[in-house]
Amino acid sequence: MATTTSTKSEPFSAESYFATQPPPSTLDHDIQNVRSFISRQAELGRNVVLVTSGGTTVPLELNVVRFLDNFSAGTRGATSAEYFLQAGYAVVFMHRQFSLQPFSRHYSHSTNPFLDLLEIDDKSHNIGVSSSQSSHLLEVLKTYKAVHNEGRLHTLTFVTINDYLWLLRAVSQELSVLRRRAMYYLAAAVGDFFLPRQKMSQHKIQSGKGSLIIEMDQVPKILKPMVDEWSRDGYIVSFKLETDQDLLIPKARASLERYGHQVVIGNDLNTRKFEVVFVSRDEVGDRSSIKETWLRIDPKSTEAGKEIEEDIIRELVQRHRKWIEGGQTRN
Ligand code: PMT
Repeated sequence: MATTTSTKSEPFSAESYFATQPPPSTLDHDIQNVRSFISRQAELGRNVVLVTSGGTTVPLELNVVRFLDNFSAGTRGATSAEYFLQAGYAVVFMHRQFSLQPFSRHYSHSTNPFLDLLEIDDKSHNIGVSSSQSSHLLEVLKTYKAVHNEGRLHTLTFVTINDYLWLLRAVSQELSVLRRRAMYYLAAAVGDFFLPRQKMSQHKIQSGKGSLIIEMDQVPKILKPMVDEWSRDGYIVSFKLETDQDLLIPKARASLERYGHQVVIGNDLNTRKFEVVFVSRDEVGDRSSIKETWLRIDPKSTEAGKEIEEDIIRELVQRHRKWIEGGQTRN
């Protein structure tokens, strides 16, 4: 039996995590680009949203052959980014490498392969877009080009949970200069357990000794420092994913109470494309309670192209506007 580790150690706080786990080599370069992007948006008076999207991996070896992954295709994040752009926001899209991205998501290799859109003219040997696809492609392309010409979309990638945590902290700190005009939309599927670098095997874990037992450490809950330290008065939206409907509301409420941010959007794995629940604080006079608001769409409407993210973003944009106008500060 191969045992990689069994030493009990103190759980990581965010502070001890960043003090012991090395940053990705591209961090400084990535952050310089994010800084220039944000300062351009600030000059133009735009609201900026950080959208995180896709799943984080947890490598089991330093020379990584095997890793654990978190479920997420990046659909929620990529789709939401498009609706934020449509609402006039500038978007920092921080996503898992090779997961779905705004605009190109419509032509994902598995559901709508790009080559299937094309036709060859037998006489001229020119390539064209098939007539049944061209009006949709034209719409997507026009918006894509406009967004890029306006410089409103900046893309960053992560693979591991370590890349994600370092990037999230640094990008949030950069974005905090916008204070209330910044929104943080945390749709990525973030791992809860990881192997600290100091406990990882240098080389591929060898088989042949029977079963493998790995003890993983808990990833520190990063929403806490995000709310208290990294984002100042930004508007923070987190997601809560559950597979047991009965746990969804209690867990979402607990998250809001624990971290004190603005909204938790609860979604169940199997119904997430048709319904979500907004859990947020309801302030009436000096009384504060937690309220739940369900957003639902008819599952049949998705066949005609309806996306629940359209309604999620419309609701958030309104709430963010009130947050900006209200001028609330957290402390
Ligand atoms: O991309 P799709 O296929 O469309 O799927 C979208 C989605 C289901 C992944 C998305 O809608 C979603 O629910 N994302 C959040 C998934 C997740 O990490 O849920 P969680 O219940 O494990 O964590 C809840 C919150 O705690 C998250 O906002 C996360 O940022 C935060 N967290 C998680 C781990 C950690 N160590 N610290 C945290 O603060």
